[in-house]
Amino acid sequence: DPACQIHLSHIYLTGGNKMTLLEEAQRVADEFEFTSEQLKTAVVEFRRLMDLGLKNNDEAMTMIPTFVSDVPTGTEKGTFLALDIGGTNLRVCSIHLQGDGTFHLVQSKSAIPKAMMIGSSHDLFSFIAERIESFIREHHEDKFDCTEPEHMLQLGFTFSFPVNQTAVNKGVVLRWTKGFNIPDAVGVDVVDLLQRAIDAKSLPVKVAALVNDTVGALMARAYAAPKGTESLIGAIFGTGTNGAYVENMENVHKLEKAEHQTPTMVINTEWGAFDNAMRVLPATPYDNALDHASVNPGYQMYEKRISGMFLGEIFRQAIISLTTASDPGMGGASLFNGEASKQLNLPFSLDTSVLSAISEDESPDLATVKKVVQEQLGVSAGLEAIETLQAVQLVSRAIGRRAARLSAIALCAIISASGRLSSSPTSKVDIGVDGSVVEFYPNFEEMVREAIREVLGEEKEGRLTFGLAKDGSGVGAALCALMARKQQEMGIR
Ligand code: GLC
Repeated sequence: DPACQIHLSHIYLTGGNKMTLLEEAQRVADEFEFTSEQLKTAVVEFRRLMDLGLKNNDEAMTMIPTFVSDVPTGTEKGTFLALDIGGTNLRVCSIHLQGDGTFHLVQSKSAIPKAMMIGSSHDLFSFIAERIESFIREHHEDKFDCTEPEHMLQLGFTFSFPVNQTAVNKGVVLRWTKGFNIPDAVGVDVVDLLQRAIDAKSLPVKVAALVNDTVGALMARAYAAPKGTESLIGAIFGTGTNGAYVENMENVHKLEKAEHQTPTMVINTEWGAFDNAMRVLPATPYDNALDHASVNPGYQMYEKRISGMFLGEIFRQAIISLTTASDPGMGGASLFNGEASKQLNLPFSLDTSVLSAISEDESPDLATVKKVVQEQLGVSAGLEAIETLQAVQLVSRAIGRRAARLSAIALCAIISASGRLSSSPTSKVDIGVDGSVVEFYPNFEEMVREAIREVLGEEKEGRLTFGLAKDGSGVGAALCALMARKQQEMGIR
């Protein structure tokens, strides 16, 4: 009836900005949908880029050969040092591997001063050597008498940035990620930088292996996993995201024949750079705003949608858009009655723990959400309405869920490329994981599994195990130092 149509369009025109707050929030949450179809297409693209990276040297998703030939068995023994830099902290540890899948670990942790993350390599590595010195003065004083290199403390160096690795203890920095930027170190061997700083202090320490945290996670999990479990992947979902896995040497086309000395090798994918070209990854206005504001626009595009350093910022951008969603004067609803705060206006001010806490709250009055909004977002307007809190939670959960679904892309691609679940109907695949997102974001693993089911099917997903590789960067590095020594004894590069 034409009269009725006119009436309806009148309502639509004047009421267009009368969407309720929850409808507005749902509209934003929907922008973070990533469908099964999109997932499947992205897995195909991931496999294409894996193959390219294994062939060529200058691909964004670098597929770095680590010269670690295999994962440990759990029977490894000995005492090793580990040094870990890669996020916000620096850790020095001493690890005693007991040979039965267990270990003792003592560690000292210090925050890396912000200025050192963007300063000179000399300052950073001198600072590191000082921390090592005070650690061994406390825990290995007797070693100071040692002058023979083979009797010195062997150190596994977990350096969680992209390097061009040419031996188990050699690798030049390709680029920095996660907020670090030390230009004079790019193109320089980090093991050399570290060994020089150690030698300048005459410390009884030999840097035996250069280890990415994902490789550490894989090694640590393989060492501790239940008997009969074979670990394929080590993955980090923390400040950054990345994964390493065991590849057949015949697929690593970019290594010279002379370097093919073992049937398998661990590959550090650097998957944070997956699809920098943005063929299959989703891009909301909030993702774009984050990228523009980052220190490396156009790089690490996969990481910027998954990892802890970035989820808080995507959330901040989305929440800000809701505070300006519609003009309250026109009768529409804006989050926090359109008010912002100093914290909310400060780029990169929100940690992923904010999302974890908001998403986790299942109480009827969303008391935790309210508290976090007040304390972390610094906002108090509109909080008496439950819809405000529900709107915040809707957006937070959508961002976390998308991160989990995107994480499944890499895992599905590597698992299917390995053929391990297809080789026999009872074969299993184990994945060692670590990082604040997978450890603390509510239901992260379950959401990843749900997405994996959509791609690989329920039966295959059921043959996957996930294990927390706690302390991967410590124990894993110790295991790499041990494997390096073994390989050296066997004359393997
Ligand atoms: C970044 C680094 C990568 C590391 C990951 C997790 O993606 O480039 O090397 O493994 O963060 O810490």
